[in-house]
Amino acid sequence: MKKGILILFVLVTLTLAACSSEPEKSTTSPASVPADYAGLTNPLSADAAIAGADVFKNNCVVCHGSQGHGDGPAGTSLDPAPKNLPELSAIVADDYLFWRISTGKDGTAMVAWKGILTDEQIWQVVSFIRALK
Ligand code: HEC
Repeated sequence: MKKGILILFVLVTLTLAACSSEPEKSTTSPASVPADYAGLTNPLSADAAIAGADVFKNNCVVCHGSQGHGDGPAGTSLDPAPKNLPELSAIVADDYLFWRISTGKDGTAMVAWKGILTDEQIWQVVSFIRALK
């Protein structure tokens, strides 16, 4: 009986160790923001979410879904799946969102939007993400 518990304990420990060693897994804590972006705050007012809704609809909904839950029509077959944006928004600052949207995320379908969208449009979409539930 005691041996069973010990084996269980070892298995649990190994499983936890295996999970924590995976790089940039979506459920682990977010990466740190590079110096070029660290500390940036949204220069726009919350009203910018209205313009941001259009930016989101035209560029992001296809993967992230209308409410940003990662369930857009093109998103369901992706690995990793598109991020649940309201969940992410709850745990990161403006600089993180602006950085990721600007430069994309290597190894995923998330492209860099800098050059496609203006900085203003990226901040608008950040305001929109902040308003998501
Ligand atoms: C082609 C599909 C696709 C489109 C279009 C797309 N994304 Fe993504 N997005 C992804 C995927 C895939 C990820 C990676 C999820 C992960 O790493 O867990 C991601 C990740 C993100 C992240 C979080 C990155 C992180 O830290 O994990 C943000 C923020 C984001 N997208 C915002 C946007 C915004 C805003 C737009 C529109 C301007 C957009 N995305 C368009 C697929 C897409």
